[in-house]
Formats: sequence, structure tokens, C-alpha cells
Amino acid sequence: LSANNESRGALVVFEGLDRSGKTSQCGRLVSYLEGLGHSVELWRFPDRTTSVGQMISAYRTNKSQLDDHTIHFLFSANRWEKRSMMETKLKAGTTLRVDRYSYSGVAFSTAKGLDFEWCKAPEIGLIAPDLVVYLDITPEKAAERGGYGGERYEQLEFQRKVAQHYKLLKDSSWKMKVFCVDCRL
Ligand code: TMP
Repeated sequence: LSANNESRGALVVFEGLDRSGKTSQCGRLVSYLEGLGHSVELWRFPDRTTSVGQMISAYRTNKSQLDDHTIHFLFSANRWEKRSMMETKLKAGTTLRVDRYSYSGVAFSTAKGLDFEWCKAPEIGLIAPDLVVYLDITPEKAAERGGYGGERYEQLEFQRKVAQHYKLLKDSSWKMKVFCVDCRL
């Protein structure tokens, strides 16, 4: 996709810890852009509507056990299965506002101890975002927002590790055009 093509939609990704406010920020951006007359869609990963997405949901709610590498590939496969639709939409001029993408894939899996380079490899060839908005919140503040509990990753200790790995990712040169929003207050 050519970023110079003016009729092309933009791929804007929101990233952050669980409970960082991605979903509400996403919704606001979509309403704003629609108000300006843009065609915008709100997507999210994992996309639970596919069969891969259902395997991911079962894992997240502890209904199935999977090796860390296996679930990493499933998250990535879930993005790959949407790639051509994503390309079609962007080329048709629709802007996609996406809640989580490859950065979640890498930050969460490296937080479990998997190798950084290994984690990035399956993401190569996916459409690169035009902008990644990182909602910066402390793990403690996010936990205060409530609702932590049933899901495998929603544990304060684990979210602390994820925050560290997001930071490493942000400071690395991995195709991120990051705009950081301070949500700590
Ligand atoms: P959410 O649907 O509530 O945003 O939660 C998705 C969870 O899955 C969240 O804890 C982040 C995690 N995740 C990964 O571990 N790898 C990924 O590639 C993605 C997209 C999400």
C-alpha cells in the first residue's frame, strides 16, 4: 500500500495495557472522523468472530491450555486472516481504527519470556500502521479501573511485565510511529 495515495484510508492502531481505555478512545476517534465525513471502521484484535478467534477466546478464559508459542501464532494468524480484507478497505478509502495489533502480540508474548526476534517474525508482511497510539497508564491505575479477574492476562504482576515490554518495543525501531498519550492522571 502506498502511503502517498491520498484516497487510501489510514490504519490507526491503539495499544496499551488491559483497561487502559483503548476501546473508549477508539470509539471517540471514530465518531470524530465520521463527523468530518470520513469513512471509518472500528476493528479489534483478537477478532473473535473467526474460528481462530474462538480458539483464542477459549484460551483467554482458561477453557483451553496452549503452549505460549502456539497461542502466539494463533494471535498472529488471527491478524493474517483479516489482512486481505484490511487491504481492500484501506485501498477503498476506509480508515481503520484498530484496537490492538502486532504490538500486543509482541509485548504480551515477550512478557511471558519468549524471544523478541522470534515474536516479531510472524508479523512481518502484515500491513504497517500509519500511526500507533499508545495509551500510557500505570498497571496499578489500570487495575483500579476494575473488572480485572477472570481472564488469564488480567493479573497485576503480569501487566507490569507487559508495560515493561511495551516500553522496550516503543524504544526499539520496530516500524512504530508511536504517539504516546499520558493516561496516568
Ligand atoms: P481484549 O480483547 O480485551 O483487548 O484482550 C485481548 C487480550 O489478549 C489482552 O490481554 C492482550 C492479549 N493479546 C495478546 O496476547 N496478543 C495479541 O496479539 C493480541 C491482539 C492480544
